[in-house]
Amino acid sequence: SLPSPLSFVAKAPVVPVVVIERLEDAVPLARALVEGGLPLIEVTLRTPVALEALRLIAAEVEGAIAGAGTVINRAQIDATIAAGATFLVSPGTTPELTSAFTEAPIPIMAGCATASEAMRLAELGFEVLKFFPAEASGGAAFLKSIAGPLPHLRFCPTGGIGPANAGDYLALPNVVAVGGSWVVPSDAIRAGDFGKVRELATAASQLKRAAKF
Ligand code: 3PG
Repeated sequence: SLPSPLSFVAKAPVVPVVVIERLEDAVPLARALVEGGLPLIEVTLRTPVALEALRLIAAEVEGAIAGAGTVINRAQIDATIAAGATFLVSPGTTPELTSAFTEAPIPIMAGCATASEAMRLAELGFEVLKFFPAEASGGAAFLKSIAGPLPHLRFCPTGGIGPANAGDYLALPNVVAVGGSWVVPSDAIRAGDFGKVRELATAASQLKRAAKF
């Protein structure tokens, strides 16, 4: 069977989705998240320094569980694992990406936005699926509906989630965690205000989940 993300996602109700523009922000940002109670950190591969940021966080930040997000091809799987990623996240799945994921040695939250995509990934053995873009694809109402016919599927929704709606998702038994960038606002990072990040993380880490592990 495929490596399961469940023991990782059990550690915190929120997975911060991080965009790092300046390499020097990586370590203090990750430390603030860990101190705030959010050890899972999804470093998105959207900036030139992303891979190096991931490497630094994985190597230097005690307690961090560093993963890579926005993984869309096989080369990125190899590069992020070499950089120390302990889990991977994708926004969606193609046949090629899915087959590369099934060969990867670390847990993966593969992306889906429809019942059919979710069913296909579950058939292949993926235990936790990223539901993306969550708000635009039907939000908590979608996940509530899908739990009727497909109660065995578990999700980490991401995209458009924040303090106002995170609780709606986490109240659902098929939502193991939510992802989002709200705990790592770009203006706070730009200003070097990691105290703000720690504060937002602390609040997010206290969100209650209905899911059982
Ligand atoms: C992602 O990469 O998963 C999303 O872009 C994060 O979405 P958010 O910025 O709406 O939280």
